[in-house]
Amino acid sequence: MMKKGKSNFTVSISYDKRLYKYDIRGSQAHVHMLSKVGIISEPDANEINKGLDLIREEIESDKFQWHADFEDVHMNIEKRLTEIIGDVAGQIHTARSRNDQVALDMRLFVKDSTVEILGYIYSLIDILINIAESKGKIAMPGYTHLQRGQPVLLSHHLLAYVEMLTRDAERFWQVLHASDVMPLGSGAIAGSPYPLDREFVAKQLGFHRVSRNSMDAVSDRDFLLDLLSASSISMMHLSRLSEELILWSSDEFDFIKMSDEYTTGSSMMPQKRNPDYAELTRGRTGRVYGNLIALLTTMKGLPLTYNRDLQEDKEAVFDTVDTLLGCLDACGGMMSNIAINKIAMRNAAEKGSLLATDYADYLVSKGLPFRKAHQVVSSISDKAISDNVDLKNFTLTELKKYCELFDNDVFLINVDSSIEARNVFGGTATNRVNDAISHNKSFIKEQLAQAEKLYGVELVARINEIQSSTGR
Ligand code: ARG
Repeated sequence: MMKKGKSNFTVSISYDKRLYKYDIRGSQAHVHMLSKVGIISEPDANEINKGLDLIREEIESDKFQWHADFEDVHMNIEKRLTEIIGDVAGQIHTARSRNDQVALDMRLFVKDSTVEILGYIYSLIDILINIAESKGKIAMPGYTHLQRGQPVLLSHHLLAYVEMLTRDAERFWQVLHASDVMPLGSGAIAGSPYPLDREFVAKQLGFHRVSRNSMDAVSDRDFLLDLLSASSISMMHLSRLSEELILWSSDEFDFIKMSDEYTTGSSMMPQKRNPDYAELTRGRTGRVYGNLIALLTTMKGLPLTYNRDLQEDKEAVFDTVDTLLGCLDACGGMMSNIAINKIAMRNAAEKGSLLATDYADYLVSKGLPFRKAHQVVSSISDKAISDNVDLKNFTLTELKKYCELFDNDVFLINVDSSIEARNVFGGTATNRVNDAISHNKSFIKEQLAQAEKLYGVELVARINEIQSSTGR
């Protein structure tokens, strides 16, 4: 049996040590402010800051000794600071509690992670738009109920994902906004008796707002739930994309080939190329949903304010960020390396009765009410299925048996005319798809210009940097 006091039960250091950068930055900003308002002396503040710089170096060069006895990242760093500079280190905790400290660290972590996630989302959007532009003319079947429905452009299909990812980006901007609140000064619960300059701390750390209620600030984890829910929705989108890649690369569809880099062989069946990256993306979606439900459940019964239950937020958040980033990267890699079998796509769009709606619309243009036209073409298409022929194989004489209104111009209907006929805003006609591409591009530019105004050039530069390092 584990002895009480020696047990690891309360220890979080194995995972919360990844907050060290934020913890040190937060402490340095806090100490700087304490000396500015005269709560501690400037030489003491300088000594503390130097000590913290040294600790950062030790951690980054793997020389730092983490101790489970000191439970978490905050205590480990403070203990080491005491070792280095002695009792002066104790001043670091003036007007601060671990409760507002951990809230700060998590907010800084979420802000950084969100910027990275946004970089990867924009990169995937770029990749999809590039394919939509370069393979703009490829026709394929559009599906409902996984049954072939109507011909569409492959670019239209891919741009549907661009819309989803653009909304994901909007959600992550919202996450950034939600986490952009500086909680230090809240103390353990009630605020602080010292004349703190909270705005000064916020400014140093790049926060645009300070928390308005100390009790809320130490116990709020909504901003984490925002991150977990935006991540869950984004994973759902990546999972749907992955599912399509899995289907499309099967022999049954044969629409695409995934590059060897993103497939693996079977240990038994030599011919197989399994779409493991897509399957793992689909599979990991479950974990990310689980993390959201876990934290929602952790939160639901907590009285104000801080409760130790809140320590359980970290693994869910870290795992979600790591998983989402990995899956965004995998999807970008898979998409920019697929080979598209445009003949198979086209053939699938040509075969069967995908033009049935166009035939019905044709009869409508000759004066038949749509419901009636639907009945007529439905009988023709039943016959086509039972004779195992395509709709386009019917001669005019045969068609006229179903409806007198058919004429020679019905043979002008084909996959291309069907696509071009959907020339409504949001439709699959080529010029609408081209418009959508330019809209998407300028919308993203606007989103980034807006962000630059709100959060500054550095943050947007970081997004662009990630985007260009991951763009393939
Ligand atoms: N490791 C703790 C956490 O992650 C830090 C805050 C501890 N505060 C306390 N009053 N015990 O939540």
